[in-house]
Amino acid sequence: MLSFYAVPTILALAATGAVGGIIEPFASLAGRTDAEIEHFIRSNNIVGGRPAPGPIADTSAKLVNDEHHPWLSLLPFQIRGPCVCPGLNTLASHGWLPRSGVASPGQIVTAVQEGLNMGWDIAVLITYAAMLVDGNPLTDLLSIGSKTFLTGPAPPKPAIVGGLNTHAVFEGDASMTRGDAFFGDNHSFNETLFNQLVQASNAFGGGKYNISAAAEVRFNRIQQSIATNPEFFFSIPRYATAFAEAVFPIAFFVDGRNTGAAAFELDLTVARGFFQDSRMPRDFHRRDGAFGLDATGEGLSFLINAHFVPPGFNKGIGNYVVDEETLDIFENGFQICALYDFFVNKTVELYPVPKAKGVLRQALAQNLANFFLAVKTASSTCPEQFPYGKVHN
Ligand code: HEM
Repeated sequence: MLSFYAVPTILALAATGAVGGIIEPFASLAGRTDAEIEHFIRSNNIVGGRPAPGPIADTSAKLVNDEHHPWLSLLPFQIRGPCVCPGLNTLASHGWLPRSGVASPGQIVTAVQEGLNMGWDIAVLITYAAMLVDGNPLTDLLSIGSKTFLTGPAPPKPAIVGGLNTHAVFEGDASMTRGDAFFGDNHSFNETLFNQLVQASNAFGGGKYNISAAAEVRFNRIQQSIATNPEFFFSIPRYATAFAEAVFPIAFFVDGRNTGAAAFELDLTVARGFFQDSRMPRDFHRRDGAFGLDATGEGLSFLINAHFVPPGFNKGIGNYVVDEETLDIFENGFQICALYDFFVNKTVELYPVPKAKGVLRQALAQNLANFFLAVKTASSTCPEQFPYGKVHN
């Protein structure tokens, strides 16, 4: 879905012949607007997969809402609509990511580290998982919101390059501040849901969103989806991401100058800024030290154990069926290999091996290799898979 802002953009681009690759690859760009040139570059530059960037060297707390990264509302030529992820939305609104909301996975890995001090391992894990199922491997671009022409020419079907808002590949049900896709809008900030987060924080977090409040919010949202969404799905991969995302605000939205318990207590006005307006508070400093897979795993386990709900799915409203296969995996501890297998299999489903040729095949192999870099930091026992062959970096 294109946002309100997309309409004038498309009309303007159509008037100048810039839509759909009408500017020939060899044509002069003289006299074209920034938006047209950006569009031209994005629709013609087929770069394929690239190695993932490494970890950043300095992970100290530092000012990130600085003069180079001011919050700006969307301009008429920017098509970024509401996005499922308040973290990436905020990074785009502050220019740590391209303000268009379309970025390469490399840009995302660097931006989440630089802007919020997300640990390199989890940044690579989430970003390349999302890139594999929601991004364009030909142009090496991913929309953090909806499908957009800015990601360039798409690979052949059944591939979907719909961006992070695409339901049921990465995006899933029972989000804290976004509704379930079944009800028609899985990406806009939802005031009613945010108020539930506020209430839980007041009741269980002493007026702050902390890990105790997170446990209640997470549990309540699961119960709500079980009770209302006949198509509620809460197994792999959503089971893992839903719990991790409830930890993220505590890890990444709290000012890095806070110490002790206050370093893990999120003020509710600050929370609203991130969740609703994609905006850091004035003078915001990113957290002190990277927060990676291990720390996320600890938070995630706390939330799972606080109110255990087995992985499963609804067969009609209120009829939650346990996914026995996935339950086995989780009873043996959180298994990153299962997540890895899910995304490898999903990629192969979207890009059947015989059809993936040339630069597309190379890009998929590269992105899978990038994804595996993070998997192997978490577990040495998952065998690497090479459906598209090996890459040599
Ligand atoms: C590293 C790349 C990232 C990717 C690809 C990504 C992707 C996503 C996606 C697809 C969702 C939607 C899941 C759903 O609710 O259905 C989501 C939600 C979320 N993301 Fe991100 N994310 C990333 C980084 C971050 C960062 C750095 C933060 C910082 C706090 C963050 C915070 C959140 C939160 C809090 C939610 C849950 C929103 C809610 O439940 O209302 N994410 N993210």
